[in-house]
Amino acid sequence: MIIAIDGPAAAGKGTLARRLAAALGFDYLDTGLLYRAVGMTVARTGADPADPAMAAAAARHLTPAELAADDLRGDDAAQAASKVAAIPAVRAALLDFQRGFAHAPPGGRGAVLDGRDIGTVVCPDAPIKLFVTASVEKRAERRVKELLGRGLEAIQETVLAEMRERDARDSMRAVAPLVAAQDAFVLDTTDLDADQAFAAALGFVRSRQPAD
Ligand code: DC
Repeated sequence: MIIAIDGPAAAGKGTLARRLAAALGFDYLDTGLLYRAVGMTVARTGADPADPAMAAAAARHLTPAELAADDLRGDDAAQAASKVAAIPAVRAALLDFQRGFAHAPPGGRGAVLDGRDIGTVVCPDAPIKLFVTASVEKRAERRVKELLGRGLEAIQETVLAEMRERDARDSMRAVAPLVAAQDAFVLDTTDLDADQAFAAALGFVRSRQPAD
């Protein structure tokens, strides 16, 4: 069983995916982390993450240590990720790993993957697809709260501008752009809190799961 969750930054996908995985006893893969690790691996060398050769090499040789780096959660990593994510060779290099996880998750029961192209490209046959979204203003507001909560600096206008920039780059790129799969259940969390979003998502998942 594969659950594919896509949507723009800070729509609440990660929290939702983690909670669904825990509730169902499935394994969870945050695919954004792969792109963040590739982006920061390039950025740390001083090169531009948008450099196709450097980024593709980093994606092909991604190591567990790079995936566990402690600078992947910030907005620098998000911007670097969004740049490497537009490079076809980077996406191709990360595809097998994501599909392998989806079809043979470590726990053997099922997998929840979240990202931008899970329901459209990585797992187009996933039986359960969710597209989690919210207004850009609400997403920026949540992101500011999250950053401040982690003791980081955050200015609402800057976060909003960067989010718009990242939305545009993720949606406009030629390969695997951010778009809802035709058969995805669209969940708009603008006016929902995390518990309400989770209840709606779980209700949808249960409605699609074969009764046992
Ligand atoms: O989900 P996130 O914010 O951690 O993702 C960071 C960036 O990585 C995002 O702006 C676009 C890219 N990404 C992608 O292109 N495809 C995915 N499946 C996941 C992330």
